[in-house]
Amino acid sequence: MDDNRLRVGIVGCGGITRALYVRVYALVADIARVVAVADLDEGRANHVRTVLGDAYNSEAYRSRVLAADARKPEERDAYLRKAELAASAATHKIRRYRDHEELLKDNEVDVMVLLTPPPVRAEPTIAAAEAGRHIFTEGPMARSVEEADAMAAAIRKAGVKYDCQLIDRFPRDMVLARKAVESGKLGQIGFANVELNLYQPQSYYSPTRANNWHGTWQGEGGGAVFHHGRYIIDPFLWVVGSRVVEVFAYSGPMLRVIEHDSLTQVVLRFANGATGMIHVSLISQSALEVRQNVSVGLRGRISIAGQDAHLVTQNENLRQGPDGLPPIQSRTSFVSRDAQDALEALRAEVEDLPATVTQEQQTRGFLERVINDTEPQVPLEVPHHHVEVVRAIYKSSEENQPVALPLDKDDPWYSFKGRFAAGRKPSS
Ligand SMILES: NC(=O)c1ccc[n+]([C@@H]2O[C@H](COP(=O)([O-])OP(=O)(O)OC[C@H]3O[C@@H](n4cnc5c(N)ncnc54)[C@H](O)[C@@H]3O)[C@@H](O)[C@H]2O)c1
Repeated sequence: MDDNRLRVGIVGCGGITRALYVRVYALVADIARVVAVADLDEGRANHVRTVLGDAYNSEAYRSRVLAADARKPEERDAYLRKAELAASAATHKIRRYRDHEELLKDNEVDVMVLLTPPPVRAEPTIAAAEAGRHIFTEGPMARSVEEADAMAAAIRKAGVKYDCQLIDRFPRDMVLARKAVESGKLGQIGFANVELNLYQPQSYYSPTRANNWHGTWQGEGGGAVFHHGRYIIDPFLWVVGSRVVEVFAYSGPMLRVIEHDSLTQVVLRFANGATGMIHVSLISQSALEVRQNVSVGLRGRISIAGQDAHLVTQNENLRQGPDGLPPIQSRTSFVSRDAQDALEALRAEVEDLPATVTQEQQTRGFLERVINDTEPQVPLEVPHHHVEVVRAIYKSSEENQPVALPLDKDDPWYSFKGRFAAGRKPSS
C-alpha cells in the first residue's frame, strides 16, 4: 500500500458502477484509491475512469466545504486530510484492463471489486483468491451451490477477505429485529414470512437493449427470487436465524415473456420447526407508483409470529442524501400482549447503530476489516445459504414437489448445468 491506502481494482464498468460505486469510492478516498478498472467494453471502462476522476475532485471540494463548517478541530483536520487524499487520487492515472484476468496481473491491486452480471462471479472470485486479492462482489454470491462451495473453499484456503453486497441487514431496526428473535423475547417462532414487490416491464428484458443479460438463465442466473429477491431474503434468513430445511415453490415467468421467474411464491420449513413464506414479484405496479411519485419506496417486508409477540420489519429506500447515495432505512414494530415492554427495551441496545445505511458503510466496513485484519461483517455462510435456498426453490417449482435442503452434491440441481441435465433446456 502506498500512502496507507488500499489499492482497488474494479471489474465491470456498467450501470451500477456508474450510478453507485464511483460515488462510493470517492467517499472512501481516505482509506482506498481506485488504481485500475476493467471491462470487456473499452468505452465503458474509459468512461468510468473519467467519472472517477470527476468524483474524486468533487469529493475533495465537498470535504473542504465540510472542513470549513466543522466545529471541532479534529473533525476539520479529518475533512482536510480527506480533501487532500481525494484531490491526489484525481491526479493519478487509473489503469484500464479488459477483464479480471488482466487486472489480477497488476501487482498494485490489493482488492478486487466485482461489479459484473450475476453469472460472472465464481471464476473471477476464485482467481482473485488464488492471486491473494481481497474480494468485494455485488450480489447474489453465485448461480449454484457448486459455484458457491468452490468460491468459499478458495477464499478460506487463501485466507483473503470476502464480502458480498448485503446492505439491507445493516440499518438499526433490522439489527433490532434480529435481536428480538435471538434474545428469545418473541418466544417460539410459529411462522416467518417475507414479501418483496417490484416492477420490471417487458422492455427491461428486451434483447435490443445494449448488453442486456436480463431474462435468461445463462445471462442472469435466475430472476425474481435469485437476482432481485436477495435484497430482503438475506436479512430475512439472518433475522429468523434458523436454516431452511424444506421448500415448496411456484416460480416462473408470470405476465412476462422470459425464461426464468418474474414471480416466485414459496412455502418453507425452518430447522426450528417454524414454517414460512417467500413472495418475490417483479410484476407489482404498486411498486411502480412508489418509484415514480413518492420519496420512500418499500424494499421488502418481514413478518414473524412468535408465541409471545408479532414482529414486522420493513426496509425502505429513501431519497438520495447530500453525499449523493440513496440510503436504506428499516422500521421494526412489535405487537405483544405481555412482552411489549421487554421488546421495546431492546431498542436501547441498538441506539448507537445508524438508522439508515448506504453502500458507503458496507464498503468502508469491508475495507477497514481488510486493513485491520478482522472478521468479515457477513459470514460466508450467509450469501451461500441464499444460493442454496434459491436453487432448491427452482428445483421444487420445476419438479412440482417439496425439496429438502441441503442439496446433495450428486443432485443435478447442485450445479448450474445440472438444471439443464434435469430436463430443461438452456437459452435457445
Ligand atoms: N446494489 C444495487 O442496488 C444494484 C443495482 C443494480 C445492479 N446491481 C448488481 O450489479 C451487477 C452489475 O449490474 P449492472 O446493472 O451494472 O450491469 P451492466 O450490464 O450495466 O454492467 C456489467 C458490466 O460488466 C462487464 N463485464 C461482464 N463480464 C466481464 C468480465 N469478465 N470482465 C470485465 N467486465 C465484464 C460488462 O461489459 C458490463 O459493462 C449485477 O450483479 C447486478 O445485480 C446491484
